[in-house]
Amino acid sequence: MGALKGKDIVSALDFRREDVEELFKLADHLREEMKDEGVLSYGKGKVLATVFLEPSTRTRLSFTYAMIRLGGTVIDFGPEAASSRAKGESLEDTMLMVDGYGPDVIVLRQRTPGFAAKAAEICKAPVINAGDGWNEHPTQALLDVYTIWRELGRVDGIKVGIMGDLKYGRTPSSLSYLLSKFNNVTIYYIAPDPLQIRDEVVEKVKGKVRYYKVGRPDEVIEELDVLYVTRLQKERFPSPEEYERLKGSYRIDRDFLMRFKHIPIILHPLPRIWELDTSVDALPQAKYFEQARNGMYVRAALLKEVLGV
Ligand code: NCD
Repeated sequence: MGALKGKDIVSALDFRREDVEELFKLADHLREEMKDEGVLSYGKGKVLATVFLEPSTRTRLSFTYAMIRLGGTVIDFGPEAASSRAKGESLEDTMLMVDGYGPDVIVLRQRTPGFAAKAAEICKAPVINAGDGWNEHPTQALLDVYTIWRELGRVDGIKVGIMGDLKYGRTPSSLSYLLSKFNNVTIYYIAPDPLQIRDEVVEKVKGKVRYYKVGRPDEVIEELDVLYVTRLQKERFPSPEEYERLKGSYRIDRDFLMRFKHIPIILHPLPRIWELDTSVDALPQAKYFEQARNGMYVRAALLKEVLGV
C-alpha cells in the first residue's frame, strides 16, 4: 500500500494490477468497519473538494458519502450556473481557485475530453477524474471491476460483453483499460457500427486483452460471464436526428434473456433509459444497483489511499 498517496487519478491506465487488488481488499475491509462504526476517523481534518460541471447522481453522492464516512469534510462547488463560470471564467482559473483554498483532494467532472490531465497539472492537490467528456471515467471502472471481483471471485480469464454506446461513452473505455491489467480477459464490443468502440481504445488494449466486435448481444450472450450495458449518450450526439435514428437499436429485457440457457451477470453504470428494461431487475443476475452501492466503498478506499491516511 502507499503507492497511490498524493497521486492524480486521470486514467484507468494509471492503476497497476496490484494497486487495484489492494483497493478491492481495502474496500471490503472499510465496508465491515463502516457497518460496525458508521463514521470512521481516517479522514479527520481532511477536505475533499467536489466539482461537477456535468450532471451526476451516483458519482457525486458516492464520493460525498465516502468522504463523510471516512470522517472527512466535503466542499461542493455547486451548480456551474451559480458560479463565476457563468460570467465567463475559464476552467483553468476555476481550478486554480478551487485548489487555492487548500483541499486535500479534488474530484472533478467536466465535459472537455483530456482536461482532467490539465487540471492535474494545474492543481497542487491530487485530482481524481470523475469523467472528462466522452474520454474516461476511471473510478467507474474501479467499481465495475470491483463488482465483478465480488460476484465472480476473479477477474482473470473472464469474458465480458460491453454493449451500447461505445463511441460516445466514457465507461466502456475506462472499463477496457482496467480489464487490460488482468490476464486472459476477453471483451466483446457489442454495438451497431456507428456506435462501435473508438480506435484509440482498441489501440491501448491491443495485445493485452482478446477482443471482438459484434453487432448484436444474442451472438455472444451464452459465452459471457458479464454483460455490461450502457445508454446512448444523447448529450454527446452531434445531431438529434442521429440519436433518433439509433435509439432503440439495442435493448435488453427479461423475455430476451430468458431465451438463453446461460444468463451472465448484468451490469450497467446507470442511469438507464430504454436499453435495460425494469423487467430485468428481479432476475438474480441483475447486479447494477449493487454495483452502484459498491461505488461508495471502492471510492472510500481510493480516497483513503490518495490521502495517505
Ligand atoms: C456514467 C457517466 O457519467 O459516464 N454514469 C455514472 O457515472 N454512473 C454513465 C452514463 O452517464 O451513461
